[in-house]
Amino acid sequence: MEDRSRFFSELISALSLMMDLDENRKLYHAWRVAILAEKLARKILPEYRTHIFYAGLLHDIGAISLPEHVVHYTDIKEHFTNPILFSHPEKSAQIVRQINPLVIAADMIKDHHEQWDGSGYPRGLSGNNINLGGQILRICDTFDILARVKPPLSLEGMKTSLSARRGTEYSELIYELMVTTLEEGDFFNEIMDEKKISEQFMNIIKALPPIDLSYCRSEADEIIRVFAKVIDAKHSYTAGHSERVAEYTYKLAKAMGMKEEEAQRLKLAGYLHDAGKVAVPRSILDKPGRLTMDEFKLMKRHPVYTMEILSMVSFLKDLVVIAGGHHERYDGSGYPDGLAGEAIPFGARLMAVADAYDAMTSLRPYQPQRNFAEAKEVIEKNAGSQFDPKVAKVAVKVLP
Ligand SMILES: [Fe+2]
Ligand SMILES: [Fe+2]
Ligand SMILES: [Fe+2]
Ligand SMILES: [Fe+2]
Repeated sequence: MEDRSRFFSELISALSLMMDLDENRKLYHAWRVAILAEKLARKILPEYRTHIFYAGLLHDIGAISLPEHVVHYTDIKEHFTNPILFSHPEKSAQIVRQINPLVIAADMIKDHHEQWDGSGYPRGLSGNNINLGGQILRICDTFDILARVKPPLSLEGMKTSLSARRGTEYSELIYELMVTTLEEGDFFNEIMDEKKISEQFMNIIKALPPIDLSYCRSEADEIIRVFAKVIDAKHSYTAGHSERVAEYTYKLAKAMGMKEEEAQRLKLAGYLHDAGKVAVPRSILDKPGRLTMDEFKLMKRHPVYTMEILSMVSFLKDLVVIAGGHHERYDGSGYPDGLAGEAIPFGARLMAVADAYDAMTSLRPYQPQRNFAEAKEVIEKNAGSQFDPKVAKVAVKVLP
């Protein structure tokens, strides 16, 4: 049981880290909102502090398909005119609801852009018709945006800025709650300091009462599939890519004589192999023409980010190098590490074929779509250079 709840919290943390990777840096939006919201909830919603923490981590997950990270959209007027922004609270809630133990968190998330005076979205709720968890998330979200103002605000400056929105964006009570919390000890400086966020985050994870997983239908597999859908939602061309790569990898593994259990592990790696793509700007992922050197350099980082994300989950440690190796080439000319031949983990060699096969047979902005027979020809032609020849030989027989 303890293992299960640890797995659960690590997986959700990894998912939220993935969303907050923005090119070369971490934005910590989700983590900061979660830390703050949990701290506020201790005073008025103590029995729901774990739920609100997860709600903070995942509140903006529905905004994943925006061209830029959601924190770059600070003009509230734009939220009413941009359909992705306007629908993201509902979309986030919908995604989170698929993870069974998080249904309460999903309700909080749904209301995180509602405002006390009724001027929020998507439903224009007012006063205490707004979910209390949602009200807490609202002020924490605003805090994080204000925390990004340069030069950084002092505690007094922060209080003034927050005060200007009380009675409209959030209630007097929620405002008071935030101020008292910020004034506790050195908390304001700690939460402002990005370098201290990871540490605070880990401390909370350790101390939080575990979420009740006894009624949880969601096994690891299910949460990971939600993960995969979020990854694929990042850009317009990849619907279903992660899932298909997982399927193809599994098929190859079985055909190469792997045991069922091992093949299932590789399937999980398949679901997650492109997690790091979330950190690559959409303008690069969806670019129809050739990438510039700099763009390609950024693109080539995605397996490294994938490894960083998977490393957060102890139960997935064995999959880090496999998922991260899907762009290595048999002849050593791949990335990120330029490994060659048997030095590339076997699972990664399978996945390289699965990934390339799906990329070739799907519609992509930078290449013509091939049919299955044509894609198999390419695999055969590149056996020994791009692909492990033994895997390529089996792939042309067993892939659809
Ligand atoms: Fe939001
Ligand atoms: Fe947010
Ligand atoms: Fe990839
Ligand atoms: Fe891929």
